[in-house]
Amino acid sequence: MTGSGVSAESGVPTFRDAQTGIWTKHSPEDLATSQAFEANPALVWKWYVWRRELIKKAQPNAAHRALASLAQLKPDLSLVTQNVDGLHQRAGNKNVIEFHGNIWHEKCFSCNRHSTSLEKYSEQPPRCEICNGLLRPNVVWFGEAIPEEALASASLAAAQSDVFLSVGTSSLVYPAAGLAEIALQKKATIIEINTNATPLTTKTDYSLKGLATLWLPAITAHVKRSIENH
Ligand code: OAD
Repeated sequence: MTGSGVSAESGVPTFRDAQTGIWTKHSPEDLATSQAFEANPALVWKWYVWRRELIKKAQPNAAHRALASLAQLKPDLSLVTQNVDGLHQRAGNKNVIEFHGNIWHEKCFSCNRHSTSLEKYSEQPPRCEICNGLLRPNVVWFGEAIPEEALASASLAAAQSDVFLSVGTSSLVYPAAGLAEIALQKKATIIEINTNATPLTTKTDYSLKGLATLWLPAITAHVKRSIENH
């Protein structure tokens, strides 16, 4: 399970880090709720355009790349991310479970149909080809449900995991933060990588304090060596 801390070193701001975190500058209610979009679609759309431009300039970092290599070494690895930036896929990971959606996709605010508009940076939200409603980013807003398929596959992966790796997430936002608890109940080994302590830290078997770009390559290298030595 990854959170915004994994993309922080690619220049994509996290949500809650002091000073740099998005939610220290804007209130989620004003930008990441359907009420906010209803009240001022252009403001909310422009904010996602700003984030798209940031993410477009960003490159996958050593943490993203290490997880892509780990997936090669361990094909039964399930990668669940709260990140909507698509950087795991750009690093080479396939079948990423996008728990909070993807900022590059849209769906209609009125008819809910998914759309692939080309207008990724327009001033105003583009229109739905089917019902002419406003298109919104296909991300999970506060108060909205997690996409069913993502929730089902992530919960199953957590319940079947022998090792649960929680990387760069504050473990504050549910139901994402609940996945580690599912794994815990199933007696999985819980490893957390984070620059700070989180509500999960005391429940872990291993709390690796520090940067994702340092710990993940080290773990992948270790797994690679142990496979080669077998
Ligand atoms: P947060 O901003 O809440 O937490 C980021 C976590 O990453 C913090 O615990 C940091 O200590 C840690 N961190 C920062 N830089 C790091 C680095 N280089 N290496 C390792 N750890 C680092 O972000 P998320 O947990 O991802 O939801 O937030 C969860 C959800 O809340 C997001 O998906 C979004 C947000 O509101 C929705 O929009 C639905």
